[in-house]
Amino acid sequence: MSVTTPQRPRLTILGTGYLGATHAISMAELGYEVMGFDVDEAKIAKLADGQVPFHEPGLDEMLRRNLATGRLTFSTDYAEVAAFGDVHFICVGTPQKQGSLAADMRYVESAVLGLAPHLTRRSLVVGKSTVPVGTAEWVEQLLQDHVAPGIEVEVAWNPEFLREGFAVEDTLRPDRLVFGVKSDWAREMLDITYKGVFELASSEDREVPVVVTDFATAELVKVSANSYLATKISFINAMAEVCDAAGADVTQLARAIGYDVRIGNKFLRAGVGFGGGCLPKDIRAFQARAQELGVGDALTFLSEVDKINTRRREHVLELTREFAEGQLDGAKVTVLGATFKPNSDDVRDSPALAVARMLHDENAVVSVYDPEGTDNARRELPDVQYAVSISDAVAGADVVLVLTEWEEFRHADPVVLAKLVSHANVVDGRNCLDAARWRAAGWNYRGLGRP
Ligand code: UDX
Repeated sequence: MSVTTPQRPRLTILGTGYLGATHAISMAELGYEVMGFDVDEAKIAKLADGQVPFHEPGLDEMLRRNLATGRLTFSTDYAEVAAFGDVHFICVGTPQKQGSLAADMRYVESAVLGLAPHLTRRSLVVGKSTVPVGTAEWVEQLLQDHVAPGIEVEVAWNPEFLREGFAVEDTLRPDRLVFGVKSDWAREMLDITYKGVFELASSEDREVPVVVTDFATAELVKVSANSYLATKISFINAMAEVCDAAGADVTQLARAIGYDVRIGNKFLRAGVGFGGGCLPKDIRAFQARAQELGVGDALTFLSEVDKINTRRREHVLELTREFAEGQLDGAKVTVLGATFKPNSDDVRDSPALAVARMLHDENAVVSVYDPEGTDNARRELPDVQYAVSISDAVAGADVVLVLTEWEEFRHADPVVLAKLVSHANVVDGRNCLDAARWRAAGWNYRGLGRP
């Protein structure tokens, strides 16, 4: 190890959204001194006060525990961050640009430009945000242009693969680490930065595989992984369309093909499709970047993946219309679920909320219930009613839609609910209910891709 490599680097995390806050808190949990940074003062004040600004199981207690040790601090001051850290993680958002498929890179740019002039010692800037391939080179150039002369600053790319709802687990126990680096020093810095992760793994008799590679490959790993996952979901949803037409059952089909280890049984749940802050925008930004690189044809299938996914939402709308005897105008529709998946309060690109919006646009009387996502949903879609419980939500309903597979919905008692609705019609948009049980309780049950 070279002489300039600190034994235990101090870490800063720029951007404290889902990714950054989880990374900051988890690294402090592993014993590192960590400073989280955000330009959003309210968010930083909340975190410093021991409140995670979003719902992620286990994270609140971990935040409080690490604030108490003093290992974890928060700041809105770039100078303070630069003075504190040896390794600076860029964890800011890269949302879809308005009016384009491409990613909006302004937050990455502003984080780098905010930090660069304050750096006064050798440090490593590590990109974690999901970005178009070529970004690491661009960040390297930005740093060269804005760091004071004589200060050595290097870049590395280290994509994250955390899933909301399992974010802590995925951060502490990643299934792999990817290091996109240009020098041995950057590699060594990442090795000691993740020493805590490696040590935890060996104490549990596991190993964390590390793929050390170049910038471009590291950047592409993330978008190709998400593209693969999105494709897998759209594949099974395409099969659901065919199953519907042929009178077959996609859940049985998925089970049967999933036993083939080459296919595997994960990410084969047919339903209303994928949403969230990652998969939809990542497959779009990837297509935009491929076009720029002159290989747009290689990714035209992702446009099909996106279309299959959008059709799922329309299909749920049509099933609802059928149940409402062709007349959505004035029909009372309950939407159970607002978040894009359970155990999260995230409603970004949520299929559930998209369907609620489409129903509202057709003048249905929409009542939405979600165990955690109501506040965020209300901000996105203020014009529908929000209920405080399942029974409140379904009271007087003509059609009930289950669009996020929260445990609370899976285990709801169909006999009790049948007594509260006007018409016992249910669309199981996640194929998560026990169809036989609901039918036995008198419900007209429709799954997706199931007879
Ligand atoms: C995803 C990737 O899994 C993660 O590795 C990456 O870092 C970020 O993007 P996340 O957005 O948290 O994570 O959600 P994920 O669990 O992948 O689910 C995405 C969407 O696909 C959800 O809306 C989910 O309901 C849907 N989905 C998932 C299906 O419709 N069917 C499935 O079989 C699996």
